[in-house]
Amino acid sequence: MKNLSFLKGKDFLKLLDLTPTQIEKLIFLAADFKKKKKAGKRHEYFKGKNIALIFEKTSTRTRCSFEVAARDLGMGVTYLDSQGSQIGKKESIADTARVLSGIYDGIEYRGFGQNLVEELATYASVPVWNGLTNEFHPTQILADFLTIHERFGKIKGIKLVYMGDARYNMGNSLMVGAAKMGMDFVACAPKKYQPAEDLVKTCKEIAAQTGGSITLEADPMVAVKDANVIYTDVWVSMGEPVSVWEERISELSPYQVNKALMDAAAENVVFMHCLPAFHDMKTTVGKEMGEKFNRTEMEVTDEVFESEKSIVFQEAENRMHTIKAVMAATL
Ligand code: CP
Ligand code: NVA
Repeated sequence: MKNLSFLKGKDFLKLLDLTPTQIEKLIFLAADFKKKKKAGKRHEYFKGKNIALIFEKTSTRTRCSFEVAARDLGMGVTYLDSQGSQIGKKESIADTARVLSGIYDGIEYRGFGQNLVEELATYASVPVWNGLTNEFHPTQILADFLTIHERFGKIKGIKLVYMGDARYNMGNSLMVGAAKMGMDFVACAPKKYQPAEDLVKTCKEIAAQTGGSITLEADPMVAVKDANVIYTDVWVSMGEPVSVWEERISELSPYQVNKALMDAAAENVVFMHCLPAFHDMKTTVGKEMGEKFNRTEMEVTDEVFESEKSIVFQEAENRMHTIKAVMAATL
């Protein structure tokens, strides 16, 4: 395949490190892989290579996407969870990076601080891919943008409103990605949940170059006017203490994505969510917190989640195609 490894040897740690053209090329490469997969065309371009997946936090989509994408590309995979290896407890990130670099051709890392994945990349001599940190979730954004492109035929000029805890990995990464791609991004949250000032400043500067815009808005009804995409994420992220649920529910409830909000947006609006989502009582945590705080839904109503405007499962599938593109481009 022509131009496959256009980021050869590079890490994939955050979208701030990539140019708009590189992001666009990854999305188009993913679309191409998706077409091949649907047509049953084999694409084992990296036969004989092996990758390691380090997950310090749990995962369904990201892990499965890396595993299946790697196998489709002809590669072998080793999964290391937070308990089953020496990482952190008996061996530092720096030592782990150098050990795994001798055995593998690429390393995925999901963990806590962004500094950890950056440190791993500093010491590794093979590409390192960020599978989620507290600050950023860059592979998710590629899947989101592929999904948006499939739906609207474009990314630039799309108005995306992020509702809820906008200062964490999803809010931050969507804001960076939107700025890079010339989208109109709105972080809709109470002041305390808005992204950090320095990141907002950086993204505004990028948006000024790409024709996009970055807006912070506390009023949901104002924010969703003319929105093409309403996006949300859980109110309590992995690694956060259970004790924050009460405060989050009380402060973020006005930002729940419900039918009234969807109806106030553009005619063609879609609902997106990185998943997993608390839209009913069918999970242990959803049930426990729902019963404790007398609610049946959290960040999104079941009605919106299950509606025709919800494209969350197409979005989830696209994790695999876009992660495949990231590996193929960097290996
Ligand atoms: N969206 C996402 O990253 O899902 P997982 O936590 O299941 O990987
Ligand atoms: N903000 C969420 C994203 C999950 C994909 C978390 O970090 O748990």
